[in-house]
Amino acid sequence: MAELDRQGEGTRAAKSSGTHARKSTVSLGSGELYGEGAPHTTFGQDGSGASRFFPTFRYQAKAPASERPKIDGKGWPTVKPLALMRWLVRLVTPPGGTVLDPFTGSGTTLQAARNEGFDSIGIERDEFAYLLTCRRLGLPELVPAAVVDPVLVAIEGATTYDDLIAIYVEHKAAWNDERTAAAKDRRAAIEVAA
Ligand SMILES: C[S@@+](CC[C@H](N)C(=O)[O-])C[C@H]1O[C@@H](n2cnc3c(N)ncnc32)[C@H](O)[C@@H]1O
Repeated sequence: MAELDRQGEGTRAAKSSGTHARKSTVSLGSGELYGEGAPHTTFGQDGSGASRFFPTFRYQAKAPASERPKIDGKGWPTVKPLALMRWLVRLVTPPGGTVLDPFTGSGTTLQAARNEGFDSIGIERDEFAYLLTCRRLGLPELVPAAVVDPVLVAIEGATTYDDLIAIYVEHKAAWNDERTAAAKDRRAAIEVAA
């Protein structure tokens, strides 16, 4: 703590002498800390040391196997310990607040928010991580709409060979191997049914 405040002195001195054009300290929204164990402090512009952002140090062992969701034996490399995330969520979320995790990964933070009674919103670009999060939270494993190819859906719904030809003609410019394979399968199914 003392070392943090000592290092912060340099930053503040440089800022007051005009050599730092932009703010270099951590900002936690309105600067409030909440939850059990948090000091009743509002971070102000009163020049207090950098340690005010770290009211407590907390050691947490890495997440045990029981906290690591898996699909077909495959998990996620960066799972956070749930107890740590619950503590952090409590610390920075105001009563009735909503937790936003724009990099959801396997969803530890969303689970922590749920366990602490907060609503949450997650954003994740990796489909496998998204599915792990669904598994962790017991949500239906919906395939994200963006990855469903509407042409494949149309092919699967075709009931005649002419339907397939019409779909091909309409989408010829963006045809691909996956659509060719789906159309062949569908044609075979239509012929078997005839
Ligand atoms: C370290 S993990 C996050 C762990 C997570 N916060 C938790 O509570 O377990 C980082 C995640 O961010 C995702 N990611 C990286 N860039 C992204 C972006 N631009 N949009 C959405 N997700 C992104 C990665 O796919 C990865 O799953």
